[in-house]
Amino acid sequence: MTAEALEAQRSGSSDYVPPYPFRYTDMPPIWTLIGMARKNFLSIWGVDDFKGRLRSQKVLSREIVVCNRPDVVREAFQTKHEALQRKSPQMRHALEPLLGDGLFVSDTQIWAKRRKVVAPIIHGSRVPGFAPIMVETIAEQRAEWQKKGDGAPVDALADMAHLTAEIICRTIFGRNLGENYAAEVVEGFTDYQRHIDQVDLISMFGLPEWLPRFRGRAIKSSVKRIMAVLDEIIDSYAAQKEKGEASVIGGLLEARDEDGKPLSREAIRSEAAVIFMAGHETTANTLAWAWFLLSQSDRVRTKLHDELDTVLAGKMPGFKDVQTLPYTRAVIEETLRLYPPVPILAREAMADTVISQKPIRKGSLVMVVPWLMHRNPELWDDPDAFTPERFTDPDARKPNKYGYVPFSIGPRICAGLQFGLTEAILSLAILAQQFELRLAPGTDVQPVARLTLRPGEDLPMTLHPRHS
Ligand code: HEM
Repeated sequence: MTAEALEAQRSGSSDYVPPYPFRYTDMPPIWTLIGMARKNFLSIWGVDDFKGRLRSQKVLSREIVVCNRPDVVREAFQTKHEALQRKSPQMRHALEPLLGDGLFVSDTQIWAKRRKVVAPIIHGSRVPGFAPIMVETIAEQRAEWQKKGDGAPVDALADMAHLTAEIICRTIFGRNLGENYAAEVVEGFTDYQRHIDQVDLISMFGLPEWLPRFRGRAIKSSVKRIMAVLDEIIDSYAAQKEKGEASVIGGLLEARDEDGKPLSREAIRSEAAVIFMAGHETTANTLAWAWFLLSQSDRVRTKLHDELDTVLAGKMPGFKDVQTLPYTRAVIEETLRLYPPVPILAREAMADTVISQKPIRKGSLVMVVPWLMHRNPELWDDPDAFTPERFTDPDARKPNKYGYVPFSIGPRICAGLQFGLTEAILSLAILAQQFELRLAPGTDVQPVARLTLRPGEDLPMTLHPRHS
């Protein structure tokens, strides 16, 4: 940040600029870059990468193409979906052992078939049915916080991860099963993530496949554990089916494909694992980042509190109230712009193709990088500043839907978009109604990208009740 910008921020005449990794102007040698990527994938971008339109570079044996303008993104992810629908080898290698042929990692016919079956089960139109489970679980988190005293230390990242894991478990498996099994499921997934090399540069740069990548045996045993829990849950679901409660597993068991056939047991397990995996860490990171940003901007925090106090007047919000909280939504949208939980969307070209008149060879890695595009100075005013008003002010400069892609875009857009947004808005509304979170003194927060973008390993904050 320049000295003028820092001064403007201190004097309150400009908005808070949250941390981002150093951006080089002269590209370092490739091996230095690879070393930087291993530590933090976000540090590999230089100043020009944020401004570029379509950049491509051969790294070792793989051509890497970055699409960084709405029209180019539209062409790559919408128009050229057929050729560019395959997830990157990095993503597939990391997740296939667990998700099998699940929606998140599959492509072509299997993906299309599963998308048709799974997307309607978590579609926006189903969210009102899931919202009471969300509200109930958030209220429990609030009660947990109420038990702690003013100034109590919390790890906001861990608390938000716990909250969103509970919510997703209870929606996938139904209230009772979800509550009973949540801890086991979370433990299994955490264990799995520990064993995969999330920055799988071997696949990324097309190095030989035989190079050691994973701790195979540990992975296998954690997958076995997760599958056993999922089987147990599916078996006991039948027993509680009569209760008629909305649950994803019920939807999967009852779903029929075009030929009237049900999903196999294996497919049900894979899709349940996909929804858990895709749906909990992303929302948790969003909320953790929102708490951090709010703690650093008195202006935005005060405005958020004003909206919550005026509109809700102490009442517990439900699904219908979400649309009456535009500023709360804008805080979440701005958080997703600055710290997109999935900072890189990477695809492997399945055939030779062309993007923006540039020939792209089969096997190239084509990326849309929300981290870059959301901070592209050609698309946004003051792109590094935390300014939720850019989403509420009709005159604020912002790109079309292909330039703001925290949920991706095109046929593979996040199937849980409305679910995740509603969950994040309700969580922030219900918790910020009663609590302010302050960053623990001396904490240095830096964005770190592995499979998702997090504020480091933890986020130490202190809890402060707003109305005593
Ligand atoms: C703030 C929260 C969320 C964010 C930012 C987010 C973001 C994303 C992104 C970027 C993708 C595409 C990844 C890629 O192209 O590589 C994706 C896919 C997906 N998400 Fe989300 N997501 C969120 C919440 C959820 C929730 C709550 C669910 C489930 C209830 C969910 C289910 C899925 C599924 C099933 C896919 C795979 C879609 C496909 O490949 O066809 N997501 N999400």
